[in-house]
Amino acid sequence: MGQVHVLKHPLIQHKLTYIRDKDTGTKEFRALVQEVAMLMAYEITRELPLADVSVTTPVSDAKTQVIAGKTLALIPVLRAGLGMLDGILNLIPNAKVGHVGLYRDPETLDPVEYYCKLPQHMEERDAIVVDPMLATGGSASAAISAIKKRGAVSVKLMCLVAAPEGIEKVKASHPDVDIYVAAVDKELNSHGYIVPGLGDAGDRLFGTR
Ligand code: PRP
Ligand code: URA
Repeated sequence: MGQVHVLKHPLIQHKLTYIRDKDTGTKEFRALVQEVAMLMAYEITRELPLADVSVTTPVSDAKTQVIAGKTLALIPVLRAGLGMLDGILNLIPNAKVGHVGLYRDPETLDPVEYYCKLPQHMEERDAIVVDPMLATGGSASAAISAIKKRGAVSVKLMCLVAAPEGIEKVKASHPDVDIYVAAVDKELNSHGYIVPGLGDAGDRLFGTR
C-alpha cells in the first residue's frame, strides 16, 4: 500500500515559502523550484538499495558501495513538471527521462493527454513522476496510468503542493504508489486551484501570464 510522505526538511519548507509568494518573479521562482526538487530527490532516494563494490584509491583497495540495480526513470508531466527536472538531474545525472504531456480542460478539469514518450524497458525501472501541483489528482492519476500502460510497475509521485482531494484520488486509483509532497494544503477553490497553493505553476515557471 502506498504511503503519503510530507517532506518537512527546513530547507524545503523555507524555499517553498518564497515559491508561494506572489511577488517572487519568474527567474527566482524557477530557481527555487529546481532547488526544492533537488532536496526532495535527496529524501526520496534515501532507501535506494546499495551494492558492494571495490575501488582502488591512490592508497589501497577499498570495499565500498554504489547504487544497485534498476536505473531510475524521471517522468515530468508537461509543462510544469519540467520545472523540477534539472534539479533532480543535478543529483541523479544518469537517470533516464520520459515525458507525459497533459493539460487540464479548463471547464471539466479532466486531464487531456497529448504526448507520451518514455525510456525503453519501463518494467525494469523505478519511475518517479514529477509535477509541482497535485490538485484534483486527475493529471497525476492519468500520467501514472499512461506509464503503467507502457510497462511501469514501480512508480513514485513527487509534487510540491498537494490538495487533500488530489491525494485521495491518487490513493484510490493507484494504491501502490508512494506520494512525496512538500506540503498538503487546505482545499481546492471552485476553479480547481489549490488554496493557498502557489497559483498556476506552469504560468509562473514559464512566464506565460
Ligand atoms: C497543472 C499542474 C498539474 C495539473 C494539476 O498543469 O502542473 O499537471 O495542473 O491539476 P489536477 O491535479 O487537477 O489535474 P496544467 O493543466 O495547468 O498544465 P501546464 O503544466 O501545461 O500549465
Ligand atoms: N494547477 C496549478 O498550476 N495550480 C493549481 O493550484 C492547480 C492546478
